[in-house]
Amino acid sequence: MPKYSISPEFFKENRNKFTGLLPPKSMAIFRAAERMPRNGDQFFPFRQQSDFFYLSGIDYENAFLILFPGCPVKALEEVLFIEAYNPVKATWDGHMLNNQEAIEISGIKSIKFSDQFETVLRELMHYADAVYLNLNEYPKFQSDVADAHQRLALELKNKFPLHSYLRAAPLLEGLRVCKSDHEISLLSKACEITGKAFQRVLSFVKPDCYEYEVQAEIDHEFTINRANGHGYAPIVAGGLNSCVLHYTDNDSQLHDGDLLLFDFGAEYANYTADMSRTIPVNGKFSQRQRDCYEAVLRVLKQAIKLYVPGNTIDQINMAVWKMMEKEMIGLGLFTAEAVEKQHPESPLYQKYLMHGVAHHIGLDVHDVGLKHQPLKAGMVLTCEPGIYIKDERIGIRLENDILVTDAEPLDLMGSIPIEIDEIEKIMSNNLYLNL
Ligand code: GLY
Ligand code: MN
Ligand code: MN
Repeated sequence: MPKYSISPEFFKENRNKFTGLLPPKSMAIFRAAERMPRNGDQFFPFRQQSDFFYLSGIDYENAFLILFPGCPVKALEEVLFIEAYNPVKATWDGHMLNNQEAIEISGIKSIKFSDQFETVLRELMHYADAVYLNLNEYPKFQSDVADAHQRLALELKNKFPLHSYLRAAPLLEGLRVCKSDHEISLLSKACEITGKAFQRVLSFVKPDCYEYEVQAEIDHEFTINRANGHGYAPIVAGGLNSCVLHYTDNDSQLHDGDLLLFDFGAEYANYTADMSRTIPVNGKFSQRQRDCYEAVLRVLKQAIKLYVPGNTIDQINMAVWKMMEKEMIGLGLFTAEAVEKQHPESPLYQKYLMHGVAHHIGLDVHDVGLKHQPLKAGMVLTCEPGIYIKDERIGIRLENDILVTDAEPLDLMGSIPIEIDEIEKIMSNNLYLNL
């Protein structure tokens, strides 16, 4: 039984929106992710390339998609290539996607096998002047490994040097950044599963247990709720580890009196949630922890109001950093006078909050969407203020996923416990703390 079902209409609509952006005599070529080699005869678990999924719904490797609106051969306007049935592979690895299933999932009528790709491509290149190819253009992302998309681009340019080659990424970015109702329901489901996992850990955490034991509870809840797994490496960070922004070792023991910072999100049907919560290991916040937590929570609540059409991530960051600066003065971390004298390039708050507080989510945890782009209804972004005071073993981040609408912002994590009283109450019923 598949873990989820998405109507082929969704993928058809996505393709229509995309092909509507192509000039005449242009085609676009997409390919599935490849399996990433690990060591020996092992591969890392397969995860489909997000754009390929968005356009086809196909969650298998060795697949290609060609979109060529206005192609003189009507049957080739939209072609999906899948891996041909291989009885040996089926014996070892199990079910292989067949033509009928590919049609039902994607809504594409013309299905061919991947070993026909070269031949069909050669014919289509004859009719096209321009070819759109898709590379990972995520700003700031750097990898020394040339992925299958880069290799395909180089091969094509080598074989067909007289065509013009154009970037599909900006077009897809423009489409993926606003979520359809269907995508919002998948993201909501991912948030719901993430919330269930948080409820589960609230009943599990106790002094002296290990971060990895807590992670195992999250993994369990994700699996029984048919999530694919985590949308990114989960953070389960106790004590000082809570001040390490990308801590993922999750192997330390938790101590009485410390805080425990979580940052995890379930991936459901390839859509990921992104949540952060911070709880006291022993079930009760100290006064200082409470003051810091309330400061971050106040800012979260104020910040969510900024998730309205027209505002940008840059503006939200600036506003939240200002709010946190004020809270930090209240917490005695520095004085208002010191802020007046600070160098504008290195403001004092940066010692305690070193990250931005908003990014898009969707098929990827840091989904497409630019910081200077005005928000629009349908965008889903995180809101994640935090404070990290190493000297006090206090790291707090609170992160919810917010849908921008034409009216009020909608908090997709609004029902996941976040108030101190709620958290302490649930933890007070924690079987382990009461032993
Ligand atoms: N979990 C990654 C982030 O919060 O950006
Ligand atoms: Mn985030
Ligand atoms: Mn996060």
